[in-house]
Parts: sequence; structure tokens; C-alpha cells
Amino acid sequence: CSLQPYNTFGIMARAETLVRLRSAADVAELSSVPLLANAPLFVLGGGSNVVLTGDVRGVVLKVEIPGRRLVAETKDAWIVEVGAGESWHDIVAWTLDQGWCGLENLALIPGTVGAAPVQNIGAYGVELQDRFDSLDAIELATGKPFTLNAAQCGFGYRDSVFKHAAAAPAGQGDAILGMGLAGRAVITQVRLRLPKAWKPELGYLDLARRAAELGAVQPTAQQIFDWVCAIRRAKLPDPAVIGNAGSFFKNPTVTPEQCADIIARDPKIVHYPLADGRIKLAAGWLIDACGWKGKTVGQAAVYEKQALVLVNRGHGESSVTGGEVMTLAKAIQTSVYERFGIRLEPEPVVV
Ligand code: EPU
Repeated sequence: CSLQPYNTFGIMARAETLVRLRSAADVAELSSVPLLANAPLFVLGGGSNVVLTGDVRGVVLKVEIPGRRLVAETKDAWIVEVGAGESWHDIVAWTLDQGWCGLENLALIPGTVGAAPVQNIGAYGVELQDRFDSLDAIELATGKPFTLNAAQCGFGYRDSVFKHAAAAPAGQGDAILGMGLAGRAVITQVRLRLPKAWKPELGYLDLARRAAELGAVQPTAQQIFDWVCAIRRAKLPDPAVIGNAGSFFKNPTVTPEQCADIIARDPKIVHYPLADGRIKLAAGWLIDACGWKGKTVGQAAVYEKQALVLVNRGHGESSVTGGEVMTLAKAIQTSVYERFGIRLEPEPVVV
């Protein structure tokens, strides 16, 4: 089965077997299917944050669990439960239509709701963890369901417990909590907590600028949604037109001393102080400064309008390979390291 339609990079790769999961019961049943019980399993959501470097051995699980409903209303918040297979952006738009604000800064992020907690998606000053209540998942080895709250998800910058390898063998029942869950569980439902006391989050420069240009003193959530969509459309390639996986590297953090060192040589470097005293650097700026915009390896290219995004310059049969993407990525890492002494870390999951 070809995986090209199922990864937004449009990389040509195949899976031996693809299984579509339409309910939590489908997931729970996997461990009792002999053909699947011993095969390597790989969980795929919207395929918007993966680089496939070859054919996938074993079984690819495509999560297509639908559903969206209000499950609770507290004094301060609406709690909305969403199936892991729903499109993230559709849910952002739907919650706003219902009058529940809070997800507008996260508009137009490609991928599924089930994938959102895995890398703690974030944009324009808001991260998933800021709007997260809890999630339901199923342990693949046993078919056993479990629920995680925010603390148990171990959220970090583009990070969670679902990105880390297990520290102990599978099938330990409740012991699954507190361990790395990469490849060991499927998220089936996510509950979002949308605050009733909503206030606009305009801390991010691009958004603040737009609000000022339009003279919007008290913008609505719908306006912010529209601005975020416009900013993203101007900067980021639409995966339906040009294959890509969003930002290819994480923004690195450095100590104030390291930052001062770089500023002494490159006064224009884009940097933001963090609450913990460290300083975040814009990886896109570092890559851009090394002259990578528009450069290619085979069909892999650095996007002209945003150096942090690698794109597929080919189409269909002539599409980029995962090998070309990784060769380009390694060349970028080497050149940024040689010039700035900083190691960039890939952001998508490399399979
Ligand atoms: N910049 C350059 N040249 C470039 C690209 C960027 O000089 O080629 C500079 C920009 O001028 C800007 C700064 O770098 O001053 C930061 O760029 P931008 O505002 O576009 O955001 P980013 O740091 O590149 C991050 C997230 C995005 C998220 C945006 C908005 C990461 C790895 N990326 O990008 O998330 O949408 O902020 O919040 O944290 C993703 O994770 O896939 C993603 C797209």
C-alpha cells in the first residue's frame, strides 16, 4: 500500500499493511488479531509531522476515529471531547462557531486532533497544553484503555511522553503511566478545556502588528483566527499544493553567554528571552543567514519564504525521497553548526 497520500511531504514510501481504526473498539481489538499481535506497529495521524526515509516494515495504523461533543461545562470552562481522527483545523473552526474561544491562535495547523498532544502543537503564543484537559488512549500490547492528564503527558516544547521510547517493557498494566509511550499506545480521544473568561493572546509579534495596523483594540477570537490564517498562508506552503512537514527544526535555546557571543558576531540575530533565563533563537533566521533559502538536494528544497521549512519540489512519481530530505537536513545542520556552534534538532518524527 502506498503511503504517499498519507504524508503531507508527499514522500513515496510503502507499508506492508495499512489498518484503518475508526473507533476505540477497533484499537482495543488489535492485540487479539494474530496477524497484528507480533508485527511492528506504526501509528499515523494526519502524516503532517513525519519524514518517511524508506518503506515501513509491519503495520501502519491510520487513526480515523471521529466525534466532537461538549462533555462538561464548569464555572470557568467548556470541556470538549474530540475523536483523534478529526482534522485539527476543522475542530478549531467548529469550536469558534459554537462560541467557545481559545483555539484561534492554533488555526490552520495541519494534522489530526490525536497528533496534537504528541508534539504539543503550538503557534502564535499558544500551545496545546494551554487548552488541554485530558486524553484517552489504548495500550497496543494489551488493548487496555487509560487516561492521562496534562502532567502525565509530560508536555514540553514540541514534546510529550508520546515522543519518548519506553523505559520498561510493555504490558505492565498501570505501570504504563509515567513511561515513554512512543509506539506503544494509540490516542483515541482528546478533551480540550476552553476558558469562559477568554482574552486575546496577541503576544506574538506578527499578530500584535496586525492588530495595530487594523486599529483593533479588542479583537474577537474570529478576527484572530482570520489573521492567523492570513499570516500562515503568506509564510507557510499549503501542504496540499507543495509537500512539507511544517517547521523542520526546533528553535534552539542557548545560555545568555552563548547568545551574547553570537550577537557580538551577528548583531541582527532574532532571539527571544525565556522565562527560565535561557534564550530562544529563531532557527529559520540561522538557516537563512547561512544562505539556504531556495537550495536543493534532488527534489528536496529549502522553502524560499521561510528557511525553516523543507519542501517537496517534485510531484507524484518524481516526488522527493526521505533520503533527499535527510541529506539536505544534515547539510543544513552542519553549516549552522560550523557558523554558529549550534546543533539544530529535527522537529518531525523521522521514520
Ligand atoms: N526568519 C528569518 N528567515 C527565515 C525564517 C524566519 O529571518 O527564513 C526570522 C523571522 O523574520 C522571524 C523569526 O525568524 O523574526 C521567527 O520566524 P517565524 O515567526 O516565522 O516563526 P518560527 O520560529 O520560524 C515558530 C514555530 C511554528 C509556528 C510559528 C508561529 C517552531 C519550530 N516553529 O516558527 O510552528 O507556526 O513559530 O508561532 O517552533 C511547526 O511547528 O511546524 C510550525 C510551523
